[in-house]
Amino acid sequence: MVCLGNICRSPIAEGVLRHKVKEHGLNWTIDSAGTESYHVGEAPHRLSQKICKEHGIDISHQRAREFTFSDFISYDKIYAMAADVLDEIKLIGGPLADMTKVDLFMNEVHKGKNEPVPDPYYGQEDGFVKVYDLIDKGCDAIIKNQSK
Ligand code: 4NP
Repeated sequence: MVCLGNICRSPIAEGVLRHKVKEHGLNWTIDSAGTESYHVGEAPHRLSQKICKEHGIDISHQRAREFTFSDFISYDKIYAMAADVLDEIKLIGGPLADMTKVDLFMNEVHKGKNEPVPDPYYGQEDGFVKVYDLIDKGCDAIIKNQSK
């Protein structure tokens, strides 16, 4: 799960998918990262923690890290929260990265529509509520689609 700062969107996606995967008895390794380094080492945004907690998911222990080329080796699937993140992933990956592993997160819900999970960083709490709802739908779709 990849966004820009790894403090707002992708930490929610990491927490929600890990929670759902456990419920489904799947043995997947899930992590998140950001394409920018500004917030490395920080806990998730206060409002990301709050909305997850309201849904019974504790993400307070997660810490921001930067997305690196090694993630292309470690993971089978890489989800970008929005097109700007996807562009950064391409740059970090360079010519040797397997870009077939990468897709926009919301394409799991609406294939090929390239819808973003919008950046809530400069907004208010309602933005985080909207982000949570999109991520919840996306994570359900990931689990449903993997069994196809
Ligand atoms: P995120 O949100 O990519 O969902 O973690 C952002 C967090 C920080 C910044 C931008 C987006 N920033 O510019 O510092």
